[in-house]
Amino acid sequence: MKQSALIQGGASGLGQALVDRALKSGEFERIFVTARNPDRIITGDSRVIPIELDFMSDTLIQEASVKVASHTDRLHLVVTTAGILQDESVGVRPEKKLADLTRSKLEFVFSVNCFGPFLWYAALGSLLRHREPLIVATLSARVASVGDNRLGGWHSYRASKTAQNMLTKNLSLELSRTNPRAVIVGLHPGTVDTDLSKPFQTGVSSNKLFSPEQSAAYLWDVLKNLTPERSGQVIAWDGQTIIP
Ligand SMILES: NC(=O)c1ccc[n+]([C@@H]2O[C@H](COP(=O)([O-])OP(=O)(O)OC[C@H]3O[C@@H](n4cnc5c(N)ncnc54)[C@H](OP(=O)(O)O)[C@@H]3O)[C@@H](O)[C@H]2O)c1
Repeated sequence: MKQSALIQGGASGLGQALVDRALKSGEFERIFVTARNPDRIITGDSRVIPIELDFMSDTLIQEASVKVASHTDRLHLVVTTAGILQDESVGVRPEKKLADLTRSKLEFVFSVNCFGPFLWYAALGSLLRHREPLIVATLSARVASVGDNRLGGWHSYRASKTAQNMLTKNLSLELSRTNPRAVIVGLHPGTVDTDLSKPFQTGVSSNKLFSPEQSAAYLWDVLKNLTPERSGQVIAWDGQTIIP
């Protein structure tokens, strides 16, 4: 049976490399690809359905979900890549100390990294509520682990992804009640050479800095080997579970 995939943030970085993987797999008859600017989505393949989506807009979240539902009544793979660490246009930088916190910057980072993905899943509604195999994977980060936090700092980024991980766990429990084949996970992609990491790559050795294609290949392997027992976990590029 041909399936439907939905990749949020598929016009750049890891998201774009994951769209390539999904296309090459031949498993999907359609792949919904979202971006804030849909003109940046590569549409050379007829299976790609481009959709505008900005997590800062409730209207666009609703409209995008309606567009997906106009093509299919169920999704089998849902990957969400949205992540903000730094955005100079709004003065957001990873905080080094508590005094750097402001309400507006916290709200901005949480809106993209945590509220956005889960308001999106709420809007997708019945598209996720079926009894066929389903994977929902949200890009998280190792720095979201409370147990692994030895450096501190990066308050809003870390905390937004930690809260994201809690919602991943909650969604996994909720969907498991009606679909034992649903697998809901967070993913840590490693340190990847994208716009997000560019200002922070000093000191990362070249063998620990993945290209987006390399990380997407690792993550694709992780996705292919998921079992329902792992639902609710955050899983790294090498398949290891990250401690909460
Ligand atoms: N790179 C790393 O080393 C690394 C390490 C750990 C975790 N991660 C996580 O991996 C994910 C992908 O990041 P990346 O490395 O590929 O960085 P990237 O190229 O900067 O991609 C960031 C993604 O976030 C999306 N985004 C930003 N603001 C958004 C908004 N308001 N609404 C919807 N989407 C928004 C962008 O979508 P548009 O294209 O539509 O702008 C883009 O797809 C992120 O969640 C990041 O936290 C990355």
